[in-house]
Amino acid sequence: MALPLITLPLVELHLHIEGTLEPELIFDLAARNEVTLPWASLDELRAQYEFADLSSFLDLYYRNLDVVRQRVDFADLTRAYLKRAAAGGVRHAEIFFDPQAHTSRGIPLAIALGGVHDALANSVAEFGLSTKLIVTFLRDRPASEALEILQQILAGDVSIDGIGLDSAEVGYPPSLFIEVFSLARANGLHLVAHAGEEGPPAYVWEALDLLQVERVDHGIRSLEDDALVERLVADRIPLTVCPLSNVRLRVIDTLADHPLLGMLERGLLVTINSDDPAYFGGYVDDNVAALTAEFALDAAQLALLARNGIEASFLAAAEKAVLN
Ligand code: HPA
Ligand code: ZN
Repeated sequence: MALPLITLPLVELHLHIEGTLEPELIFDLAARNEVTLPWASLDELRAQYEFADLSSFLDLYYRNLDVVRQRVDFADLTRAYLKRAAAGGVRHAEIFFDPQAHTSRGIPLAIALGGVHDALANSVAEFGLSTKLIVTFLRDRPASEALEILQQILAGDVSIDGIGLDSAEVGYPPSLFIEVFSLARANGLHLVAHAGEEGPPAYVWEALDLLQVERVDHGIRSLEDDALVERLVADRIPLTVCPLSNVRLRVIDTLADHPLLGMLERGLLVTINSDDPAYFGGYVDDNVAALTAEFALDAAQLALLARNGIEASFLAAAEKAVLN
């Protein structure tokens, strides 16, 4: 029986809302908030989007956030992503939000989180796109700060669905965040972490064993450790893979070098995601299209990737059934 040709992704599980800040919106928000940008034009800003590694990208990612200041800015940023994702076929998104990228520059948590929440609250009605919100902690800042913010969120009136870890990886192992993840677990939150993007397989092991994460974000370096691959396969731990990000951050040289097919062959539960689409050359549908062109993915492979995304989501079984 011929499989239906699935060309569009249904689910996105690895998306930093701050990484959807498009150059045009940077200029609009700079005008709204009377911020003087260091760039004279969009082209001058776009010329900065050449990255040597994760840290050179993060420098620009944090710097550009200077224009996002008011609650309405956070809502506009989030709404712009939801609109674009829905147009690309996304029906459900589990969105990362970095509180410390804002509190560290003096924006109150309630303004930033409230603005994101304002947009998410209307997403189903406005865009037919359901969402979950995952607060990601910057692993290169103190774990005590993450703990404090988690406590504030738990005491506040915006409910979140999970926590994760992101930002500079090497030198900041998951073990630093055991207490933060224990508190989140005790409060029924889902647990994810970036691991094995630039960091070694040992960080993926730590994320699994010490933080008890349910999904690994990126996880691409897990392939260097056969026992780890066996563990991920046996426990059906999803890896939220971001191919265009991997190329732009030079985790791999070119898309042709991406280990996607090998990962699928080894039985890993791989999902396709965009990470920071405003910076890496495309949204999740663009990632799927690029992979399809590069590897001549067929309908069965595309259907598998779409099903993996649904399985790996934190939706309830009945909600997954609707998407399947
Ligand atoms: N890796 C780590 N931290 C991040 C990323 C990423 O790709 N994007 C935004 N924060
Ligand atoms: Zn990421």
